[in-house]
Amino acid sequence: MAPSVTETLTTQSPAEALAQPVGSVHLNREHQKQEDGPSYPFYYPYWDVNEKFFPTEIFDFTDPGTRADHAKPNLHATATVTHISPYLGTEISGVQISSLTKEGLDELALYAAERKVLIFRDQDFKDIGPDRQIEIARHFGLIQRHPTSGNVKGYPEFHVVYRDADHDPIREYFGDDRINQTSWHSDVSYEKQTPGTTFFFILDQPPNGGDTLFLSQVEAYNRLSPEFKKRLEGLRAVHSAVPQAEHSRKRGGPVRREPIETEHPVVRVHPATGEKALYVNQGFTKRIVGFKTEESEYLLKFLFDHIAKGADFQIRATYQPGTVVVWDNRVTAHSATPDFDKSFRRHAVRLTPQAEVPIPATA
Ligand SMILES: [Fe+2]
Repeated sequence: MAPSVTETLTTQSPAEALAQPVGSVHLNREHQKQEDGPSYPFYYPYWDVNEKFFPTEIFDFTDPGTRADHAKPNLHATATVTHISPYLGTEISGVQISSLTKEGLDELALYAAERKVLIFRDQDFKDIGPDRQIEIARHFGLIQRHPTSGNVKGYPEFHVVYRDADHDPIREYFGDDRINQTSWHSDVSYEKQTPGTTFFFILDQPPNGGDTLFLSQVEAYNRLSPEFKKRLEGLRAVHSAVPQAEHSRKRGGPVRREPIETEHPVVRVHPATGEKALYVNQGFTKRIVGFKTEESEYLLKFLFDHIAKGADFQIRATYQPGTVVVWDNRVTAHSATPDFDKSFRRHAVRLTPQAEVPIPATA
């Protein structure tokens, strides 16, 4: 039996709930007050506490970006692009993701790796149906099935984000005692094969507010001194799914597979660009392997502060009806800004293809 909305929403992981944005400049059907129903009820979050997944297994993966034409003739044939920052973020119009050939999707993977975040405007993606949406995302890797969040009945590949006047998962998690609700993270970084080219499309949104903050973990790494970079390279850190699972269990939500803890390199290399990126995030990274407790806390606090304060390598992604944001989860971190009028509904969906086992940088 499908759960109540409250049950569904409280099973969303804290970091995941924070990640998802909204916002726009035009009032239309996609800016709905609470009294209206969702524009896309098919994607209403579904929750079954008895749903179980097998543990994930390692699969072969080749990044589509590694076989792309660097000139990107398919992606750029009709596109207009505007860079938001020198380090990350590009707005793209004049091309439909749904019309790209396999070669075009390869180019999309490479461009997302290079620019970190791509903001596609005026897309038909939300209307092409779940099977086609999954087919496109599947081009970029096996799609992660989230162990605790709301999904779509029959389609566990979808990670559903939903908030309206009566349901506020972010505030439920943090309570009312925080000064701000910024929470930098990289999605589900506890997975052995962490997400790569990630898709997020908006269904209902408020008229303004709710942007997503993104930062470049490549530039965060580049800002460090040569001596500090050398110290970080070779280190590994533990990324944990345990708090997310405990949060779900505490609220009577599902834990579809037992939570895992995974060691990843603190500095990883992107397989398509060769760029080095910091790979720690406050949402999931818990400790540095081989360091004593105080040493680990000291280093992680520095890295988390460095990332959070780097406004000169961050952007805000804004949302309009039809926007699809594609980011490379390996080289970015992000945070929601849940600042919008609570009387509006926010409804969005993420598809999260998993990529390679992180490649460690060597000093
Ligand atoms: Fe996220």
